[in-house]
Amino acid sequence: MSERSSVTIDVHLNNQDPAAVREEIRAGLLATPRRLPTKYFYDDRGSELFEQICELPTYYPTRTEHALLTGVADDVMARTGADELVELGSGAATKTRVLLDAMARKRQLKFYVPFDVSEGIVRRVARELAEEYEGLQVHGVVGDFLAHLEHIPQGGRRLVVILGGTIGNLRPESAEAFLSSIERETAQGDFLLLGVQLITNVERLEAAYNDSAGLTAAFNKNMLLVLKSVVGAEFDPDAFDHVARFNHEEQRIEMRLRSVRPQVIPIPELALTLHLKDGEEILTEISAKYTRPQVEALLTRAGFTPVAWYADHEHLHGLALAQKH
Ligand code: SAH
Ligand code: AVI
Repeated sequence: MSERSSVTIDVHLNNQDPAAVREEIRAGLLATPRRLPTKYFYDDRGSELFEQICELPTYYPTRTEHALLTGVADDVMARTGADELVELGSGAATKTRVLLDAMARKRQLKFYVPFDVSEGIVRRVARELAEEYEGLQVHGVVGDFLAHLEHIPQGGRRLVVILGGTIGNLRPESAEAFLSSIERETAQGDFLLLGVQLITNVERLEAAYNDSAGLTAAFNKNMLLVLKSVVGAEFDPDAFDHVARFNHEEQRIEMRLRSVRPQVIPIPELALTLHLKDGEEILTEISAKYTRPQVEALLTRAGFTPVAWYADHEHLHGLALAQKH
């Protein structure tokens, strides 16, 4: 008799302290230079726009990581023996299927935990995967992976994955704290597979974040609409330009919203009136590009032991496999 799949979803975002949410946004808007938390890109529309970005010819990381995973998934599963896949920042989980297929081939596939801040996409992916994989137990978690990791459900022999280069969206100190918290929440012998975008030529990097279809610009400006629902801020997206440049010193793409005119924006919920000058910029995202030694040093500082490294032949994308001892 075939085993039935099951779906459970836990939502932890509602437990956030509204005052802390307001303070985080307020502090960012008042900082020098001004910045906003990257996680506010991802409501349902933001997640959809990101999925469309992944299809763009200029946005090479997704297809490169997909091809790389296809080539190495069996090796990853042979090394880890995992029967549970925990995915942090799971998004549409398109590439995840490659790993789930490899687990299924080894008859090891039991649990999948999609963990994402975007509720709609966690629910959709959980439903889709439970239908696609017979007998799979999907336990989705809607939460902030920087705050709610203790809610990863108890399970089997785990492989935690962070794909797409999402780690690059965190500042170095935050990336290390994040990986350390994963290390604390996992058991001895569990594995982590970390996808990183590698340093390549500037033209290629900047083209990936400045597409002619304007999808990345729409994704960037979507944050302004999300902030309306989160703190009632009345930003006019047309009053901002999308800017994405490579910062050579920090080795990262930086995305900003640049005010196209002087603006006064009252935000009563934040007890703040924001005065923006013509041309003033707000940092919305960093996307750091790594080297293999940097990634392995980061994993080691977080308490993991690097055990394997995979990269595509052009060295655009890397996957580091590490274990908790
Ligand atoms: N892993 C997928 C998606 C990458 S996009 C891929 O490789 O294509 C980054 C994902 O991380 C989005 O789905 C976004 O909603 C999620 N995310 C961003 N910040 C987050 C946070 N603080 N906590 C949980 N999820 C977050
Ligand atoms: C999710 N993350 C790895 C993407 C990146 O490339 O940093 C987000 C993105 N921003 C603009 N385009 C894609």
